[in-house]
Amino acid sequence: MTHVIDGNAVAEEVRTDIRAGIDALESEGVTPGLATVLMGGDAGSATYVSMKQRACSEVGIDGTTVEIDPEEPPETLYETIDDLNADPAIHGILVQMPLPDHVPKREVLSRVDPMKDVDGFHPENVGRLVSGDPRFKPCTPHGIQKLLASAGVDPEGKDAVVLGRSDIVGKPMANLLLQKVEGGNATVTVCHSRTQDLAEKTRAADILVAAVGRPEMVTGDMLSEGVVVIDVGTNRVDADNEKGYELTGDVDFESAKEKASVISPSPGGVGPMTITMLLYNTVVAASLQSGVDVDL
Ligand SMILES: NC(=O)c1ccc[n+]([C@@H]2O[C@H](COP(=O)([O-])OP(=O)(O)OC[C@H]3O[C@@H](n4cnc5c(N)ncnc54)[C@H](OP(=O)(O)O)[C@@H]3O)[C@@H](O)[C@H]2O)c1
Repeated sequence: MTHVIDGNAVAEEVRTDIRAGIDALESEGVTPGLATVLMGGDAGSATYVSMKQRACSEVGIDGTTVEIDPEEPPETLYETIDDLNADPAIHGILVQMPLPDHVPKREVLSRVDPMKDVDGFHPENVGRLVSGDPRFKPCTPHGIQKLLASAGVDPEGKDAVVLGRSDIVGKPMANLLLQKVEGGNATVTVCHSRTQDLAEKTRAADILVAAVGRPEMVTGDMLSEGVVVIDVGTNRVDADNEKGYELTGDVDFESAKEKASVISPSPGGVGPMTITMLLYNTVVAASLQSGVDVDL
């Protein structure tokens, strides 16, 4: 019988711990604050930002959004980040991607105070993750670790295959699975668009994390019996409904479910965890900056 992970239920459990952490901070007079900076012009980003705002207020984080006209020069964004870095009420800063083409992404990521970098994308935090001493684990892969734990899946000694090598999902996922700590200790293979014989690699997986951004690319015949499948993909495909589209994952759920012992669907799996882990990192940031211990 395949265990289908319920990402909403796991996210709610993690939020219970987050609320307890916020209570501990509040009892010492600290309200965690998260600032989201929105400069990109696309509708998807605006939706994500408003979802993050709502999630903040649901758990008791003071969420603010700073909107910058996408036509402004990069310096306007730098100044905003500098102000937020200096603001003691703001413990976490998130710059919503993608940015307009004229704004250099790396410069922006490096500008955020690494102690407030709740995405974990500042080079210092990337380096800490790779060297085995993470300060903020990037939200999506950290959420996936929580999903695996919730399903009783211990990666230790397993062959884990990560499809995708992006900076936000694939690479940090591979690093987390590789860490010499609980929740890691896997033997990790990272695949990408230049990988040859992809199905051969995926069939060797005990744990498969699919983050390619290609609708239902992973099919049951690419998997071995008993595999654990985590579908990160969130793809818009045309649909005959009011919106004209629906969301689908990178995995063909029906055929994959025939093979998998555990599967995380999309939507309803990783998605709810990503925002939850952002809240988690904001509480960690507030704890680090205030010196108030929280048990997360
Ligand atoms: N649920 C969530 O919270 C959440 C969060 C983040 C992302 N996502 C979703 O996860 C998916 C991946 O996101 P991302 O930001 O990591 O995407 P990305 O930056 O576009 O990276 C995609 C990766 O997949 C690889 N790839 C593309 N086509 C491939 C193919 N045919 N065979 C093998 N590898 C292939 C690419 O290889 P190259 O490097 O060689 O180009 C790249 O490494 C998207 O659907 C995104 O919407 C969901």
